[in-house]
Amino acid sequence: MATPVTTASGTFGYGTEYLGAVDYAKLGAVTVKGIRAEAWPGNPMPRHAVVPGGLVNAIGLQGTGLARFLATTVPWYRKQVGEKAPPLIVNIWGGSVEEYADVARQLTAAQNPLIGAIELNVSCPNVKAGGHTFGQDPAVLEEVVAAVRAATTLPLIVKLAPNVPSIVPYVRACEKGGADALALINTIPAMVIDVERRRPVLANVTGGLSGRAIHPVAVKLVYDAHKATRLPILAMGGVYEAKDAIEFLLAGATAVAVGSATFTNPGTAAEVYDGLVAYCERHGFAAVRDLTGALDA
Ligand SMILES: Cc1cc2nc3c(=O)[nH]c(=O)nc-3n(C[C@H](O)[C@H](O)[C@H](O)COP(=O)(O)O)c2cc1C
Repeated sequence: MATPVTTASGTFGYGTEYLGAVDYAKLGAVTVKGIRAEAWPGNPMPRHAVVPGGLVNAIGLQGTGLARFLATTVPWYRKQVGEKAPPLIVNIWGGSVEEYADVARQLTAAQNPLIGAIELNVSCPNVKAGGHTFGQDPAVLEEVVAAVRAATTLPLIVKLAPNVPSIVPYVRACEKGGADALALINTIPAMVIDVERRRPVLANVTGGLSGRAIHPVAVKLVYDAHKATRLPILAMGGVYEAKDAIEFLLAGATAVAVGSATFTNPGTAAEVYDGLVAYCERHGFAAVRDLTGALDA
């Protein structure tokens, strides 16, 4: 990544939706919406609700599927953004370990120089194991990470779920499975009720909370993970301004992703990058990387 700022999966479409609204030269990578082997319709509407400090979404991983992504989406991204287009971090998911590995294998075989890394979303149901999510059992997590590791030579980032008693066993599972980096955090399970209608607001009943409200939770998890591992950490969760990104870096992150903030200000990621550079100048840091883990605690 030429800069330590990327977009968070699911909040920046397939990379072209914000053309003209953000300076791509300030993005170290563009992380795209979750992709699985087949096209996927997602959940019925309504699938998001705005709450104080963020939003609750249950999009349900709507996506084009891998074949169309490779044949159409990536070339379109290259054409629209131009030859300086930042590399793509391709967020992938699947209903089984085999599907994850298959998607990773195909992404690798495509040998497209724009595909810079794979980000594994393990917060989705394991159909073969009764619907438990892959990311909530360290043994299953290690299995899926190892299977993807064996299927790809691309850098492998594993995106962890925040709703676990301790992040450390999951960090270990990623290390053992052969991950190159961690991403923290995915959304936090949540629910919103319409009291007048006495019904859940989301058609899916529950969803995931993102935005400012989850930022301190994410900072703590990044801090815990950094203490436990030398793997680089891509941090996300409520980055709305440079200060939020700096918190993540000081807690131990190497790079940050901007998610929900993009919905209200599409230029956020670029502004965060500018703010990081200004902070380094103001505090005498030669490079943003020198901020990683530089916490006086
Ligand atoms: C509308 C929406 C869709 C999302 N889709 C995905 C996805 O497909 N895959 C994934 O790993 N995370 C997905 N996420 C989670 C984000 O990438 C990010 O981890 C989370 O929103 C926290 O960052 P934020 O508070 O800056 O939004 C989605 C989040 C939102 C709000």
